[in-house]
Amino acid sequence: MPDQIIRIDYAHVLTTAVGPAHGLLPAEIERARPPVEQLVQRIEQERKQGRHRYRDLPADADMLRTVKAAVRRHKRCPTPSRGGGPAVENLVVLGIGGSALGNLALHTALNPPFHNLLPPRQRRGPRLFVMDNVDPVQFGNLLALLSPQLRRTKFNVISKSGETAETAAQFLIVRDLLRKRLGPKALAAQLVVTTDPQTGTLRELAAREGYDTLPVPPGVGGRFSVLSAVGLFSAAMCGINVDRLLAGAAAMNQRVPTPDVSKNPAALLALLLHAFYVRGKRLHVMMPYSFQLKDLADWYRQLWAESLGKCRDLDGRPTVVGPTPIKALGATDQHSQVQLYREGPNDKVFIFLEVQRFARDVKIPRGRGTPLALQYLQGATLGKLLNAEKRATELALVASQRPCLTIRFPAVNEHTVGQFILLWEAATTIMGYLLHIDPYDQPAVQLGKEYTYALMGKPGCESPAGPLKHP
Ligand code: PA5
Repeated sequence: MPDQIIRIDYAHVLTTAVGPAHGLLPAEIERARPPVEQLVQRIEQERKQGRHRYRDLPADADMLRTVKAAVRRHKRCPTPSRGGGPAVENLVVLGIGGSALGNLALHTALNPPFHNLLPPRQRRGPRLFVMDNVDPVQFGNLLALLSPQLRRTKFNVISKSGETAETAAQFLIVRDLLRKRLGPKALAAQLVVTTDPQTGTLRELAAREGYDTLPVPPGVGGRFSVLSAVGLFSAAMCGINVDRLLAGAAAMNQRVPTPDVSKNPAALLALLLHAFYVRGKRLHVMMPYSFQLKDLADWYRQLWAESLGKCRDLDGRPTVVGPTPIKALGATDQHSQVQLYREGPNDKVFIFLEVQRFARDVKIPRGRGTPLALQYLQGATLGKLLNAEKRATELALVASQRPCLTIRFPAVNEHTVGQFILLWEAATTIMGYLLHIDPYDQPAVQLGKEYTYALMGKPGCESPAGPLKHP
């Protein structure tokens, strides 16, 4: 399906576009190829030894069957009569970080904007609420909103470790609410727990209290898990075609083992972004010109930051590495960020996401009385205007010698989004190896968690660490 393939256009990172001080020479790219090609081969070898397990997800038929069976069990409300109850009206995802960002990204990309405001018959599934925080006002208001519809609401608690404080707190609140309002049986009927298949507090509790569960596959870390039950259950519940999503990821999976950088988009991305990183351009701005793609930029932000910001290298030696991913949205952030981007420090690479065919377009009407100054807009579409703005912003950045890449989506659909996800996951692995760090751990997140446990009085963690004594 050539018209379904996402493509990378990197003409505007070359010296011919942005000059010798800020661009890359084709010869430089050539020189950077052999190490990248070797790393791609190494990664493929390591896959045979069971590493990089996220790459197995697009072809994991058992996992997909398990998810679909869970969707069949939970699409309708429980009922004493045969034939199933009414359709579920709300699905609430409780999770954080890699256990939430992918869910939200899929939803925004592949369900209609304002999905939750549509009447049930115009939706392909329940309203979706992804709660990735413990903000009391937000969470309290959600519970109040859903309270009259609790029987028609399902909760998907997602935590690989089963220990994360934010998710655990949300879960305890929901568990108590369901028990009190609907009785203990509701916990088995209204709740799906996605967690480690063997270990963790949530897994033990699920076994003890009889909750329905889905597994987070072993060896797949949170931020690499969107194509597992973590992301697929809520996506399929809400009507997203997960077969096509995985087919898109599988199509990219065919391309990323190729050592030849010119045929491997993940290797190309890693090579270019690493080359700029080495030159001191360490801020990587992803700027979608599409509302549908905006939360994928958030997902990328976590993937790139948490995987690549490290202080120990693969040999355990001290290092300090990590590009800073930034999210911007076109055209909105042209009126917020572009002043800085054009005239501020030239320390960034811009990664535009462009859509060639929007799922829907809106024509700007011709009408009597349109002022002369606005007549140029008449007869055009908003899609044409948005893409013109993208092109114009890119050219303006190039005029200021700012390197720009474009990832072009022929259209936003399950197939292209699946490709995009696998593309960035694979690029992250290669980039991690280029930086000589482990892209799969996140040791720095741990200390904050331990301080939280101490402040909240968790048994065994009460002894306050030094800084906690000083408010
Ligand atoms: O990518 C990661 O590993 C993290 O962002 C986790 O997803 C996040 O900390 C949540 O962890 P858990 O799923 O164990 O609750």
